[in-house]
Amino acid sequence: WVSAADGRIKGWDWQASDENGFAELMSRNGWVDIDAVAAQGQVNGHDSKIRVKIITASEEQNEFFFPGFIDTHIHAPQYPNAGLFGSSTLLDWLETYTFPVESRFGSPPNPKTGHQTSTDPKDAPILAQQIYDQVISRTLSHGTTCASYYATNHVPATNALASLCHSRGQRAFVGRVCMDNPDFCVDYYRDASADDSLVATRQIIEYIHTLDPEGNLVKPIVTPRFAPTKLFAPLHIQTHISENINELALVKELFPEADSYAAVYDKYNLLTPRTILAHAVHLTADERVLIRARDAKISHCPASNAVLGSGICPVRTLLDEGITVGLGTDVSGGYSPSILEAARQACLASRLLSQSVPWQRDNPPGADGIGSHAREKLSVSESLYLATRGGAAVVDMASDVGGFEMGMLWDVQLIRLGGVKLVEKSPLNVVSDGSVDLVKAGPVGNVDLFGTESWEEKIQKWVWAGDDRNVKAVWVGGRLVHSRV
Ligand code: GUN
Ligand code: FE
Repeated sequence: WVSAADGRIKGWDWQASDENGFAELMSRNGWVDIDAVAAQGQVNGHDSKIRVKIITASEEQNEFFFPGFIDTHIHAPQYPNAGLFGSSTLLDWLETYTFPVESRFGSPPNPKTGHQTSTDPKDAPILAQQIYDQVISRTLSHGTTCASYYATNHVPATNALASLCHSRGQRAFVGRVCMDNPDFCVDYYRDASADDSLVATRQIIEYIHTLDPEGNLVKPIVTPRFAPTKLFAPLHIQTHISENINELALVKELFPEADSYAAVYDKYNLLTPRTILAHAVHLTADERVLIRARDAKISHCPASNAVLGSGICPVRTLLDEGITVGLGTDVSGGYSPSILEAARQACLASRLLSQSVPWQRDNPPGADGIGSHAREKLSVSESLYLATRGGAAVVDMASDVGGFEMGMLWDVQLIRLGGVKLVEKSPLNVVSDGSVDLVKAGPVGNVDLFGTESWEEKIQKWVWAGDDRNVKAVWVGGRLVHSRV
């Protein structure tokens, strides 16, 4: 049962729970604890097992609870552009698609001073309110219970995002994007100075601290866009690193004195245990050592890396070297707001990497005949680990979310897979002899079960073919925040 006072798991005596609609669910059936499903050994030094407890919730054995997903990297204002990128790569994509959409989140300036003075979310443009509300609805519907959001550099709209996360009940880190470097940023969308950037960032931190003084649901996160747009000091921090080859060249040009991209951030004390670095596709071995030493975390964004042609992040190498990794959708570099899709893309990308000729050349087979290229493949359970436990560690909440331990927050999704039954021949119910009547049988989404699958196989089908139609309900801190009839 889940305590109404703090939304945490207090026990597994389901009959005792009559809050938040649990009782009806609980009364339907016994509970099968199969937390060994995803446990396949070591992921990295810290957390020896990928343990996600799954509990069956229906007689058809096609429903189960799963820890809510954690999106460690998502740009909320870019959501209208999801799926739009043409054949651009990072730097021209930013100019063509991203800065124009983000710049629309500004409020009209004070006519006297020409500055945006309000910090009131109500002064955010309607468009910002609508898009942010939509992003929250959409991510919740895909089972994302916690997201680390980039907003824009506008204070009212960024505060509106924080306020909406709070009222809708989504756990969130909300960052106002800092970008003041005239050598890179476009004139129409840029902080006037580093001082302005500081003042505005403090305003959102103060606003969020007033909104949620304990930080129970929503927390601020300092968000310098990436090295080319300038930097800023501690709290939770998020930024981009080593995503694209042209970006690396730009960083080298802007910071000729720095040894590496990671060293630029380190110089400004931005590599901390509470720092989320997105992408990390082209890190050198030295940079990985530095990131590991600072215990900074990495958000792996495989869909974005593929569509923007950024490259393939060697996740296994990061994990083997003891770096903490979670998953990010990177909307709208990524086309999908779904972390399940990110898990699937992480599996796919790791398979492509394992088969790429340069990777195989640099990672020849060892004595056992198995090259590290073969090991590079992530299993379904490893991808789910990244989506839950890994993400929880990335946002520094590993003891609060990402699993079902006693005392953890009830940030959970109820997953329902399609229970297709093979139908008997009958005049009303048959498509053709021996076939499956999909309409009558009422499949849920793309995942059809045939009653023969083990739980491991059900989970594999879910990861490879599931989507938001399989997310029946979502809770954050014990509060029901999404349901689908
Ligand atoms: N690097 C700097 N800004 C961005 C952004 O908005 N998205 C991605 N994917 N990379 C970036
Ligand atoms: Fe990004």
